[in-house]
Amino acid sequence: MSTDTDAWTVARIRAMKGRRFACVTATDAVTARWADAAGIPLVLVGDSLAMTVLGHSTTLPATMEAMLHHTAAVVRGAGRALVIADMPFMSYQVSDDQALANAGRFLQEAGAAGVKLEGGRVRAGTVRRLVNNGIPVLGHIGLLPQSVRAMGGYPVQGRRPSEAARLVADARALEDAGAFAIVLEGMPPAVARRITQSVQVPTIGIGAGPQCDGQILVIHDLLGLAGGRSPKFVARYAELGAQAVAALEQFRRDVEAGRFPTTEHCY
Ligand code: KIV
Repeated sequence: MSTDTDAWTVARIRAMKGRRFACVTATDAVTARWADAAGIPLVLVGDSLAMTVLGHSTTLPATMEAMLHHTAAVVRGAGRALVIADMPFMSYQVSDDQALANAGRFLQEAGAAGVKLEGGRVRAGTVRRLVNNGIPVLGHIGLLPQSVRAMGGYPVQGRRPSEAARLVADARALEDAGAFAIVLEGMPPAVARRITQSVQVPTIGIGAGPQCDGQILVIHDLLGLAGGRSPKFVARYAELGAQAVAALEQFRRDVEAGRFPTTEHCY
């Protein structure tokens, strides 16, 4: 029996099958602290930070060193939340030995509780190898951002019945390989529901409709930190980017007008 003050573990997340839970990405100690203070059970150090924080146009330039650096910062801020690190492009595809060595670095050097990697049946052997060596793995199927060049963009997956059947097979293969949960990205709700009903581990949806067990959003999208337009599946719960610009403008005007600092800001 766990209480609200207990740290979230992989076993507790696995036990969330059939219950709704919210997850977010975090990129540093500050966003991790916000997520933990809000009672979020799982934070993912997503390689989307290549876009949201580092200014790239895809996730492909994320490196092991960048992901380790950000993961360590998230772990320092995360409190009770379970921290899962995203394995960047080409850190797990070359060989299972390389995948194991790189995944181990996230636990050993950065303090993550587990790793996420993209792909279904094609990655099942790698997932099994990691799990057999004590590394919890979060699977990820459907729209795979690291395959943006192969897909020619970010198309919704699983619209055709044959594709949907392949996604169900992918999810089963990951479950069989020992994944503790599976991210379902960019697919019709009916397909996500079918997958969710086909596996015993929790599914965590992003752009996959309401019938997944958990839901995840990129924190910069959710908080309106990045500005611009958001994808259809995003709900913006705040406009912090716009608020930040307004605050900075006010600061600039106050300095220019001699309103800051006042005597109350002086020693
Ligand atoms: O990198 C990321 O933020 C992700 C989520 C979209 C699941 O993989």
